Amino acid sequence: MPAAEAVLTIPDFCLVLLVGASGAGKSTFAARHFRPTEVVSSDACRGLVSDDEADQSASAAAFELLHLITEKRLAARRLTVIDATNLKVRGRRPLLDLARRFHAPVVALVLLLDPATCIARNRHRAAGGGRHVGREVIAAQSKSLRDGLPALRDAGLAAVHVLDTPGFIDAIKAIRRVSPPPLHPTRS
Ligand code: CTP
Ligand code: MG
Repeated sequence: MPAAEAVLTIPDFCLVLLVGASGAGKSTFAARHFRPTEVVSSDACRGLVSDDEADQSASAAAFELLHLITEKRLAARRLTVIDATNLKVRGRRPLLDLARRFHAPVVALVLLLDPATCIARNRHRAAGGGRHVGREVIAAQSKSLRDGLPALRDAGLAAVHVLDTPGFIDAIKAIRRVSPPPLHPTRS
């Protein structure tokens, strides 16, 4: 995407997958560009089922909940944003299955920042009393993301936008929602 393009265009009904390591800024991006009710967050779901957003032992239940909320929203044709790392094919599969079932185009917004930035941001977040994810985990997530990019690009999504510098991500001033052209043009 050219630097001048500060507006990202997505279908007005779609499933948005934020993709990125911890600290890449997924939740910050989601809060900036989407309504709170449009964002389904794996951390928030962990919190709902365990009172602790960082409790990894609650992940299975949290993702069950995340999938259920996503199913209900897509059934109601509500734009839905998944705020989770979404790094692995296996983790994305149930979401892509739901999107297919409800004829929702899928748009991936990949926050591909260098691990050092993600690590520094995690430290900063922890210093303010927030969650901390360790450098080894972030290094592994970053590798997994880079290795998995070809598979993500080949997954048949409506669009895969790779945003690969903090400046690039900050330059996105708005996300424009457009209705796709009708599949079967009406007769005039
Ligand atoms: N942050 C920042 N500048 C940005 C984006 C984020 O300084 N442009 C900071 C946030 O304020 C936060 C930290 O970086 O303290 C991590 O951002 P967050 O949005 O929480 O990252 P996530 O990708 O959501 O991380 P996680 O997967 O751990 O939820
Ligand atoms: Mg987050």
